[in-house]
Amino acid sequence: MVDLSTEYMGLALRNPLVASPSPLSHTLDGIRRLAEGGVGAIVMFSLFEEQLREQAERTSRLVDEPAESFPEALDYFPSVVEEYAGPQGYLNLLERAVSAVDIPVIASLNGISPEGWTDYARAMQDAGAAAIELNIYYIPADPGISGPDVEQRHVDVFERVRAVVTVPVAVKLKPYFSSPGAIALRLDEAGADGLVLFNRFIYPDIDLQRLAVVPVVDLSSPTDARVARTWIALLRGKVRASLAATTGVEVAADVARYLLAGADVVMTTSALLRHGPEYAAELLDGLSSWMEQKGFQTVDELRGMLSAPDITDRAAYERAGYVTAMRAANAGGYAPW
Ligand SMILES: Cc1cc2nc3c(=O)[nH]c(=O)nc-3n(C[C@H](O)[C@H](O)[C@H](O)COP(=O)(O)O)c2cc1C
Repeated sequence: MVDLSTEYMGLALRNPLVASPSPLSHTLDGIRRLAEGGVGAIVMFSLFEEQLREQAERTSRLVDEPAESFPEALDYFPSVVEEYAGPQGYLNLLERAVSAVDIPVIASLNGISPEGWTDYARAMQDAGAAAIELNIYYIPADPGISGPDVEQRHVDVFERVRAVVTVPVAVKLKPYFSSPGAIALRLDEAGADGLVLFNRFIYPDIDLQRLAVVPVVDLSSPTDARVARTWIALLRGKVRASLAATTGVEVAADVARYLLAGADVVMTTSALLRHGPEYAAELLDGLSSWMEQKGFQTVDELRGMLSAPDITDRAAYERAGYVTAMRAANAGGYAPW
């Protein structure tokens, strides 16, 4: 019997599989199903600060942009039910979720104004959130905004929230930094408890019939995991923060690969949207069977086994494959992976 129990940002989890933010947590029933499915923790969908303003008009951003706007996600994107729309609704749902399930419930926040970040972070803590994940979903659409400005914005947001709550705070990053490792180190130095790599951004598509720009949400595939897995492997052992992997988990092998690269926890949204929250049990069974087959008894035994060694140990670093693979890709455009 393998022991899957683990830790994430100091929270004790029964296993390293975490449900990442998605419409599956829009309702209390959905949250219960996620917990019953077996995940170790749940990160709720994000409270978007815009909802504040929109709530005044008795709408929420997600209700405003109904499923029809997201053709790929049509079946997966139930709107937030009216009862839980807007900040107060979110906090009510969070509070009920915390008492309904016996696993940590992490709240996710996407603020805009400084007060939006701090006031809601504090309210989430008061509502019982085990931790807070900052979804800094920010696209510098103005070309005048520099890379260092974007990085500073991430650090500022984190520090502002860190100053007003005592629960662990994770930052969910996008991969689009000129040096993802550098921003990870800065946030780590600023005291981030967790780094969640990487968010998937929604870029619009063009509808040729309607001659219109339309938002499209598509679900991930396992090849999408390679970017996050490489950065997790490179950061393992270099940051104090817990590392959470998000993107591209479809089967148990994807979970195992992320753990070998060095993830503390592995998050999944697309697979649970495709197959239902109960699919978590299948992922966990597959992980346990593979561990048994390989003779691993605990997650700690395998975690980071295939992370990238310190760059100062040049030979070991090259042997680990991360550099070789990248160099091959640079040289010929054909990576051996
Ligand atoms: C329909 C849908 C809704 C999502 N909503 C949120 C959200 O509210 N907050 C957030 O941080 N991420 C959100 N995400 C991103 C997921 O949490 C996850 O990070 C991303 O989909 C990559 O993981 P996956 O490959 O397992 O899907 C959403 C993703 C999808 C597909």
